[in-house]
Amino acid sequence: MAKTSYLSELPFTVPQLIAQKRDGLAIDADHLRSFVNAYVAEEVTDYQMAAFAMATYFQGMRPAETAALTLAMRDSGRVIDLSGVEGIKVDKHSTGGVGDKVSICLAPIVAACGVPVPMISGRGLGHTGGTLDKLEAIEGFRVDGSVKRFRKQLSKIGCSLFGQTGEIAPADRKLYALRDVTATVESIPLITASILSKKLAEGIDALVLDVKVGRGAFMKDQESARALAKSIVRVGKLAGKKVTAFLTRMDAPLGNTIGNAIETAEAFDVLHGEGPEDLIECTTLLAEEMLRLGGVAKTAAQARKLVQEAIASGAAVEKMQQIVAAQGGDPKVVAKPSKLIRGGTKRVPVLAAKSGFVGDIDALALGYVGVKIGAGRTRSDQSVDPDVGIVLKAKPGDAVEEGQPLAELIVRKKKHAAAVMDETVNAFTLSARKPKESPLRLETIRR
Ligand code: URA
Repeated sequence: MAKTSYLSELPFTVPQLIAQKRDGLAIDADHLRSFVNAYVAEEVTDYQMAAFAMATYFQGMRPAETAALTLAMRDSGRVIDLSGVEGIKVDKHSTGGVGDKVSICLAPIVAACGVPVPMISGRGLGHTGGTLDKLEAIEGFRVDGSVKRFRKQLSKIGCSLFGQTGEIAPADRKLYALRDVTATVESIPLITASILSKKLAEGIDALVLDVKVGRGAFMKDQESARALAKSIVRVGKLAGKKVTAFLTRMDAPLGNTIGNAIETAEAFDVLHGEGPEDLIECTTLLAEEMLRLGGVAKTAAQARKLVQEAIASGAAVEKMQQIVAAQGGDPKVVAKPSKLIRGGTKRVPVLAAKSGFVGDIDALALGYVGVKIGAGRTRSDQSVDPDVGIVLKAKPGDAVEEGQPLAELIVRKKKHAAAVMDETVNAFTLSARKPKESPLRLETIRR
């Protein structure tokens, strides 16, 4: 018989369940599951769920509750069965930053080394960019395939780079949109359940998590980033997966580009053994761990060798070409990333007002500059301009002379650059002394 009401499974009313969370009491796993199912079935209203999210924001959740919420959200839709695909399936998730195009080079490198990568990515929102928007800068590239195609491509090529469909964790899709407009995003149990419900539904065996810390990240300080990483590692393990989290710095943008086509081109540079040092370092760090978890390398040194060979032999480029062709794009753009940079834009230099060393580059400020010139979005229903963006001409530690370019704005109209010029210049701190280098990786969390 068809289920008529999830609410009938609860021994009390929805306001009582919300009150339980409001008062700091734990909620049973079964009750959380019924509540989540009822939300997806529209038996629980958005305003009730918003109240619950706000209560959770203030009261938090015990680990077992976070795990129960995660699994209920995972099971709110389809859980992809990848048992028919050979190998240990490993994905990566980044909590998001500015200039973070790592997935686009990481996935083909890892797949070229023999570890299947089933990757479901998201779009940019607010000051952070999204992998799907960057991939769609490749003309014809489709990110919206069915589960059947996702699985078939993974079996055949070893990597699928798709977007979340309505079938995957629908509870998260609904709840995330609600949290976004009710100031309840920054909650560790809710972020844990959101990220992991999607990843667990993908059918992965293992996950590497890149928790960004700093000005351009969600988590501004190391302590809250560590708490989030530990929460995800703990719940992921309870769900039977191998999970490693890295805390990496996100004060300045990653790499030299912020935008869609230019970031994809830069990620392709890495596949050719080129590209900025920090991007290569971040990609290599995550790739090494994915190869270890995927069982093709025992040590980080062995994994590093595999990564270097995949790049030097051209296997990583070839893998990305296969992915691009399978998803409807022209594989030639991988061999020649500059083909991604189309015309129709103006390039406006951003000049240093004085001489000095570049200290900080404010990733958050530049993220918002990117949004203002059209590279990002502030509402999920907006579209992005693939061709505009920011190219950094100087990075922390570089010496610049007065009048030398710090960056270049790629805009549709010169007046768009004029409107953000002050913010862009002010994002660069110039100092008389060379700043101390800070490491990219801050911590590794495996348990
Ligand atoms: N990314 C997600 O997918 N969910 C969150 O809650 C935060 C970041």
